[in-house]
Amino acid sequence: MKNVLVTGGAGFIGSNFVRYLLRVEPQIQIINLDALTYAGSLENLKDLPDPQRHIFVQGDICDRALVDRLLAEHHIDTIVHFAAETHVDRSILGPEQFIRTNVMGTFTLLEAARQYWLAEKMPHGDANQVRFHHVSTDEVYGALGPNDPPFSETTPYDPRSPYAASKASSDHLVRAYGHTYGLPYTISNCSNNYGPYQFPEKLIPLIILNALQGRPLPVYGDGQQIRDWLYVEDHCEAIWLVLRKGRAGESYNIGGGNQPPNLQVVQEICEILDELDPESPHTPHSHLIQYVADRPGHDRRYAINAAKVEQELGWRPRQSLSTGLANTVKWYLDNPAWVEAIRKQQEYQGWLAKNYDARQELAKREERK
Ligand code: NAD
Ligand code: DAU
Repeated sequence: MKNVLVTGGAGFIGSNFVRYLLRVEPQIQIINLDALTYAGSLENLKDLPDPQRHIFVQGDICDRALVDRLLAEHHIDTIVHFAAETHVDRSILGPEQFIRTNVMGTFTLLEAARQYWLAEKMPHGDANQVRFHHVSTDEVYGALGPNDPPFSETTPYDPRSPYAASKASSDHLVRAYGHTYGLPYTISNCSNNYGPYQFPEKLIPLIILNALQGRPLPVYGDGQQIRDWLYVEDHCEAIWLVLRKGRAGESYNIGGGNQPPNLQVVQEICEILDELDPESPHTPHSHLIQYVADRPGHDRRYAINAAKVEQELGWRPRQSLSTGLANTVKWYLDNPAWVEAIRKQQEYQGWLAKNYDARQELAKREERK
C-alpha cells in the first residue's frame, strides 16, 4: 500500500486516521477527499505530522469524474472510505442527504474503483494489490434486548434509523461488488467512537462543551440506553490492521468493550470536569443534567463481540472508558481555539436550536406538572 485515498478525512474519525497513518507509516502518500460539509473542517487537519505526504482535495464522493481523476493521477492502490452523513438525529429530521452520500456516494466510489482497478488494470499492480476498505457501523445490526448476546459478524442486518439503513445499504453494495466483480474489499463495523476532533453534535463532545458553558446537559428519555464506547485512536489502529492483515471479502466487528448507560457516561464527564476545573461556577456539573424528549425509534442497546478481530489480527483497544474520557475532556479543555472555531459556525448554532429547543420545552412542561 503506497497511495491511499481517504474519503471523509476532514471529519472526526477520518482526520484522526490521517494523523495516525502519517505517524505510523513513513512511506505512504495520502490523498484526502472531503466535501467539507458542516461535519468536516480544515481545523481538524492542522499540525499534521509530515504534512508533505498529505494532499487535501475538497470535493464530493458523488462526483464520478473527480474520483476517476484522483484514482488515476495518484495511482491509488488503497481506498479507505469514511465519508458519510453520520448523525442519527439529523437522519431523522432530513434523511435525503443520507441516501445521497452514504448510498450513491459509496456506489460512485465502487464504480470508479471497479473501472480503474479491474477494467483498466492498474499500471503498477494487479487486483490482489489493491483494497477497498469500507468503514461502517454496528447500527446496521439493529438494537439488542437486555439479555441478547453482542453483535457478531453473522448477526442479521436490521437497521432501524435512516442513517443505519443507508449504511446497511452501502455495506450490501460493497459486498455485492466483491462477489460479482471480484473487487478486493474489507468492511469494519464499529461501535460509538469518541475522542479529539469530534463534532459537538454527538453525545460526548456535546456534553463537554455544554458543561463548560453552564448549559443544560440533554439526556434523551431515561438515559438508560447503552452504547459500546471506543476511543478513536483504537479504531484507527484496528482499521489499519484490517487493511494490512485482514482477509479480503471479510467483515470485522470493532468495539471498545465499555458499555455503561448514557446517564453514567454523562455523570463521568461531569466528575472529570469537577476535578479538572474545581473553580468553575458550574461545579458540580451534574446539576446541569436535564432529561429531554427521547429520540424517535431510539435503539436501546448496542454491544460488540470483537472476538474475530482479536483472535485473527491480535487487536485489542488500548484505552478503557475512564482513561479515554479523561484524555478527551482534557483535549477539549486544551484546545479552546478549535472549540471556538467549531462553536461559532452558524450551522451548528442552528442545529442546536432545531434539535433541542422543542425537546427542552417539553422537559420544562413536564417539570411544571
Ligand atoms: P463525521 O460526520 O465526523 O465526518 C464525515 C466526513 O465526511 C466530514 O468530513 C464530511 O465533510 C465528509 N463528507 C460528507 N459527505 C461527503 C461527500 N458527499 N463527499 C465527500 N466528503 C463528504 O463522521 P465520523 O464520525 O468521523 O464517521 C466516519 C465514518 O465512520 C462514517 O462512515 C461513519 O458511518 C463511520 N462510523 C462512525 C462512528 C462514530 O461513532 N462516529 C462509529 C462507527 C462507524
Ligand atoms: O454505534 C455507532 C454509531 O454511533 C455511529 O455509526 C454514528 O455515526 C454515531 O453518531 C453514533 O451514533 P449514536 O446515535 O449512538 O451517537 P450519539 O452520540 O448521537 O448518541 C449516543 C447516545 O446518546 C444515544 O443513545 C443517544 C444519546 N443522546 C445523544 C445526544 C446527541 C442523548 O441522550 N442526548 C443527546 O443530546
